[in-house]
Amino acid sequence: MHRRALLSSLALPLLPLQACTSLRAASRLREFELVAITGDARIEPTKDPVPVWTYGGTVPGPQLRVRQGDRMRVTVFNRLAQATTVHWHGLRVPNAMDGVPHLTQHPIAPGGRHVYEFDVPDSGTYWYHSHFQSSEQLDRGLYGTLIVEEREPVPVDRDLTWVLDDWRITPAGRISETFGNAHDMAHAGRIGNVVTVNGSVREDFSVRAGERLRLRLVNAANARIFGLAFHGHRPLVIAIDGQPVEPHEPEGGRVVIAPGMRCDLLLDAAGRPGERHEVHDLFYPRGRYVLMEFIYEQNAPLPARPGAIMALPANTVPEPDLVNAGTHDIVFQGGMMGTLHQALLDGKPTDMRAMLRRGKAWAVNGMVSDGHEMKPMLELERGRSYRLRMRNETRWHHPIHLHGHTFRVLERNGKPTRHQEWQDTVLMSPDEQVEVAFVADNPGDWMFHCHILEHQDGGMMTVLRVR
Ligand code: C2O
Ligand code: CU
Repeated sequence: MHRRALLSSLALPLLPLQACTSLRAASRLREFELVAITGDARIEPTKDPVPVWTYGGTVPGPQLRVRQGDRMRVTVFNRLAQATTVHWHGLRVPNAMDGVPHLTQHPIAPGGRHVYEFDVPDSGTYWYHSHFQSSEQLDRGLYGTLIVEEREPVPVDRDLTWVLDDWRITPAGRISETFGNAHDMAHAGRIGNVVTVNGSVREDFSVRAGERLRLRLVNAANARIFGLAFHGHRPLVIAIDGQPVEPHEPEGGRVVIAPGMRCDLLLDAAGRPGERHEVHDLFYPRGRYVLMEFIYEQNAPLPARPGAIMALPANTVPEPDLVNAGTHDIVFQGGMMGTLHQALLDGKPTDMRAMLRRGKAWAVNGMVSDGHEMKPMLELERGRSYRLRMRNETRWHHPIHLHGHTFRVLERNGKPTRHQEWQDTVLMSPDEQVEVAFVADNPGDWMFHCHILEHQDGGMMTVLRVR
């Protein structure tokens, strides 16, 4: 059998089995295999393929699709020369399944395998990625999407996923191996020079007039934030980070999606046959470009949809009790042009210059993390609600991600948010204050970190313990 064919067959879901021994009569067991292995990706279709690291031979890896309430068993085989783990970003899984090396499991050694098994409580758009040396392993391509379908199918003509990423490609057509460089770490992170959708530079996207799309956006980039404007269309945001939200037009006409985040759009193809409409990324004022062009097919339009826009069915995330919630202040500091002069590194006061020599530049509540085996910064009581008042005292953006939980975004700069979104990753602008709340109902040690992976490496990471 051809090697590639063998690999992709390994990535296919096996037949679903009934979980007959389980008391959850309705839960189906779905089994998958993921093989972490090197491969080649046609990042730029006109150029030679680029050596990458993959799940199952492709970037992104295979899309795992299950239904809400299913149980998943994923066997991960590590055929890389480096250890690895898999993290199920945004899914509220038991701590032992969270895929954080040293904190929740031993790394999967080269040649080794590991089985992850958990129930899938919430529907929505999620993703999986390595959590071992993530800044290098994600950058090289170790990620894929995990779609949890609603119990009742949502009526759309096409359900599509766009995984956004960028790559730093050298003139010789390889991934630049400048991982962990101090400049990226202390500034905006590793921003690439080639942007891809589903692993390749895709300029056209063919649509049929009249069709209704569900477009699932996933930002798998190490550091790039996207701010997408869909010319000629009025997409509605229907879910953020997998969690349903009251359908609404994106604020300022652009969909802002930071590393780690997902956004589901409902998009009616309102153009006419033969038309072309561009999708622009406007996030960085000096780096605007066209991400994609909608090309309307010449076919006759589909019959128009009845106007009704249905909100997605709510998930079962517990509602925090804001009145009796415990409150914690969390301050993010550091980076270039910041005011952080000194922080605790290995328990010792360390100045910025010494931090930079250790490859660090960021602190959470005055502490700089060094690796995953850290002491928890906070201990939370299981079942209790908490409000985190977070302050970004840096000159940089930070998407802050909490493992194992989903929080409500209550306020920004003291003003209630319009949609009180449930998120697992919240983007904080420079100097912004964001308050979130959640029920600490999932016991264990949970990572809490910036999803700009160079910032995470650079110390912007801590652990919250729920006991
Ligand atoms: Cu998507 Cu701790 O990460
Ligand atoms: Cu950050």
